[in-house]
Amino acid sequence: MDFFPIFMDIKGRQCLVIGGGKVAARKIALLLKAGALVQVVAPELCREVREMAGTGEIKHIERRFEELDICDSNACDSVLVIAATSSKQTNENISQLAKARSMPVNVVDQPHLCSFIMPSIVDRSPIQIAISTGGTSPVLARLLRTRIESFIPAAYGKLAQLVSGFRSQVIEKFPKAEQRRYFWEVILEGQVTELLFQGNEPAARHALQCAIDEDFSEEVGEVYLVGAGPGDPDLLTFKALRLMQRADVVVYDRLVSQGILDLVRRDAELVYVGKERNNHAVPQENINQCLVRYAQEGKRVLRLKGGDPFIFGRGGEEIETLKENNVIFQVVPGITAAAGCSSYAGIPLTHRDYSQSCVFVTGHLKDGTVNLNWKALAHQNQTIVFYMGLQAVKVIHRELVAHGLSDDTPAALVEQGTTENQRVHIGTLANLSEIIEREKVKAPTLIIVGHVVTLHDKLKWFNPSSERTTAFQSARGRRI
Ligand SMILES: C[S@@+](CC[C@H](N)C(=O)[O-])C[C@H]1O[C@@H](n2cnc3c(N)ncnc32)[C@H](O)[C@@H]1O
Repeated sequence: MDFFPIFMDIKGRQCLVIGGGKVAARKIALLLKAGALVQVVAPELCREVREMAGTGEIKHIERRFEELDICDSNACDSVLVIAATSSKQTNENISQLAKARSMPVNVVDQPHLCSFIMPSIVDRSPIQIAISTGGTSPVLARLLRTRIESFIPAAYGKLAQLVSGFRSQVIEKFPKAEQRRYFWEVILEGQVTELLFQGNEPAARHALQCAIDEDFSEEVGEVYLVGAGPGDPDLLTFKALRLMQRADVVVYDRLVSQGILDLVRRDAELVYVGKERNNHAVPQENINQCLVRYAQEGKRVLRLKGGDPFIFGRGGEEIETLKENNVIFQVVPGITAAAGCSSYAGIPLTHRDYSQSCVFVTGHLKDGTVNLNWKALAHQNQTIVFYMGLQAVKVIHRELVAHGLSDDTPAALVEQGTTENQRVHIGTLANLSEIIEREKVKAPTLIIVGHVVTLHDKLKWFNPSSERTTAFQSARGRRI
C-alpha cells in the first residue's frame, strides 16, 4: 500500500490553495463541499474562482506565493495545502516547505511532490467511495469510478440518512450485536431499500418503523417487471441490472439473450416461460399466476422481458393480476426493439427531410390477416415499424399499396437487432417476402417501412464482427 486512505474532517478548518486557475477551481469546489474555509493565494483568478471570491465563499489574497504563507505560524493555520500553480519551481518550493512543517500537501499532477493525493470520488453523501491508483493513472481511477457509479444507485445517500435516524431505536430493541446485524442485513437488502429507491421515502420510513415494532423476519415477496432491451446487454438500465442481481427467481422468455441472463444473480432460480410464434409454450394466464405464487412464497421475482414490458409485451396484463392479488410490484422500462434496432441499423425513425411521425404496430397474424387501420398508416412522411411482422409481409405489402403507398417504398428487415448476429436487409415493400425467403430471415425481426430506410447506406455504423475496433478508433479521436 503506497498511500494510507483516510477521510479527513475539514469542516470549518482553513485550507490553503496556491494558484487560481481552472485546476485550482476544481480543488476549491471540493474543499468547499466538505465545508472548509478556503484561502487562495494567486495574482490572478480564472472566472470560476473570481466568482467564488466575489460571493465571499473563499478568501482571496491577491499576490504571488510567499514562503510566509506556509512558514509563519501566526499567518498560517491551514490544515492542508494544495499547490496548483503553473510554475514547477514554485510547486516544488511549496511541497518542501509544507513537508518541513508536517503540513499535508498536494501538488496537482505531481505525485512525487505530494504527501497526500486526492482520489476519484463516488459521492453518495454521507456515503463516500474514494478510488486511488496511487497517482499512477488518474484516467484508470476515473474509469473505475464510472463502473462503481453505475452499481450504486443515487439514493444510497438517502438510505444511509434514513437508517441513521433509526439506529438508537434498533439498539434498544435488539440488544445483541448479532441480532442487530441480522436485522440490518434483512432491511438493507429488502423492501425498505426498494421503496426508498423508488422515491417513496414516507413508505420506506413506515416500513422500517413497522419492522422494528413488529416481527421483521417475515420478508414480503415482490415482483420486478423489467425490460431487458433488444439483446445487447450494454443496453440494460442501471435499475434493471440492480434488480437482476437481487432477485431470487427469474421468470424470463425467449427474447432475453444469454448475455443478459448471465448477469442475473448466480444462485437465482431460472424459470423459462418462452413462447414460440403460434406455440404458446406457457399460456399467459399461467405466467401471471406463477408470478403471484412465487411472490406469495415471499420471493423476489424478476419478470424479465425482451425490449420494453409495455410495448407488445403483455406487461400490463401481468401487473393487473399482481394488483388483483395485492402483490407489490415495480416496472422498469427497457429499450424497445424499434429504438434499439433502428439505432444499430443506422435508420433514424424520424428525420426532418423524410419522416415527421413514427408508429409502432403489431404485424401479428390473426386468422390469416392483420387487423390494422391501414388508411392511418399509409402516409408518405411517416415511418411504420412492424413488430412480429415476418409472417405477414405479403398482407403488409398488399394493404399499404392498396391504401396509397407505392411498391417501391423503402423497407428494412432488422434481424436479431443489436446482437452480434444482427443482419440488416434493405429492400422495398414489393420485394420483402422474396428477401425473407432468399436470406432465410428468422424471428426476431423488425420491419421498418418508410423513406428513412434510404439513410441506412450512409449512416450504418454497427458491424458486429468489428465493433470493438470501431469503438476503439472513435475513442482515440477524443482526448482521454
Ligand atoms: C412480442 S414482441 C416483444 C417486443 C418487446 N416488448 C419490445 O419492446 O421490443 C416480439 C417482437 O419484437 C421484435 N423484436 C424484439 N427484439 C428484437 C431484436 N433484437 N431484433 C429484431 N426484432 C426484435 C420482433 O418483431 C419480435 O417478433
